[in-house]
Amino acid sequence: MTKDIINKIFQGHKGILAADESNKTIIKRLTALSVDGSEENITKYRNTLFGTNNLNNFISGIILYKDTLEKQQINGLKVPEFLMSKNIIPGIKVDGGLENFNDSDTESYTKGLAELKENCENYYKLGARFSKWRSVFFISTENSSPTDELIEKNTDDLASYAKISQEAGLVPFIEPEILRDGEHSIEETKEVFNRVFKSLFEKLTEKDVDFESLILKTSFVVSGSMLPEDDTKIVQKETVEIFKKYIPEKMGGIVFLSGGLTPEQSFSYLHAVIEESEKEGFLIPISFSYSRALQNNAMLHWSKNTDDVITTQEVFSKDLKKASDALQ
Ligand code: G3H
Repeated sequence: MTKDIINKIFQGHKGILAADESNKTIIKRLTALSVDGSEENITKYRNTLFGTNNLNNFISGIILYKDTLEKQQINGLKVPEFLMSKNIIPGIKVDGGLENFNDSDTESYTKGLAELKENCENYYKLGARFSKWRSVFFISTENSSPTDELIEKNTDDLASYAKISQEAGLVPFIEPEILRDGEHSIEETKEVFNRVFKSLFEKLTEKDVDFESLILKTSFVVSGSMLPEDDTKIVQKETVEIFKKYIPEKMGGIVFLSGGLTPEQSFSYLHAVIEESEKEGFLIPISFSYSRALQNNAMLHWSKNTDDVITTQEVFSKDLKKASDALQ
């Protein structure tokens, strides 16, 4: 059953739309564009995206925020029912957001493990078929972040989450996001990837997580956001090198987050990584699971006239097509 979900996720040059921004995040994004972050506007915006006619040509699944899964309606249907009617798999963000770790200014762990089992079982009943848990790792040489303690905590929790999610019938997307914020070099990013992935894959093995029913959601290996844009060739080489070193061949799949890269960067790095993986004989399915890279242009357009459904959907469709083309 979970294998079918994974096959569907990666079929036909499709990827995942991450529309699981917490209320706090989406309100911040709408407010920055001078749109009131009311519940009504959030629903209106997301329904505009979900109602896009040819969505299913490019998107196989959507990660939802709990309010969208539980409460929101579109065309008289609950959102999961509506998505299933369009052959799109509903997914759900199951982590409870970030909390300061050991009173640090730069390190955070992810909340939500205590109530996770119950939540996953409930989300499955509501129609979700995959889930996502995000941990973050901020790189700062000055603060020696991420510390070994944080890596131990976050990777252990990611593996526990994966196990619980699989037991509830939801395909887990484990997301150890190595943040771009800052001025670290690509070598420093790679060093952090090595530490995080080493610990993560050890924990997943220890906890007997089924790799075939597991998806890794990762960032690209890139330099900090304050440094000039990385050459695509370097990103593809460094990223695939890390994959080959740590990811077991039986892993269900890999999807990328965009992490504040521009849409164009996110699409071209994705294409380059797929090309390099094939060249290197690394044959795990790879796709995208972007939020900002798919939504930024559409949200900007919509913010100028929140009743302009058709053109917003056209803008959104164009970026969906570019992401899907990057998979080819
Ligand atoms: O958890 C992060 C999102 O699912 C991906 O967002 O593509 O804007 O980095 P992003």
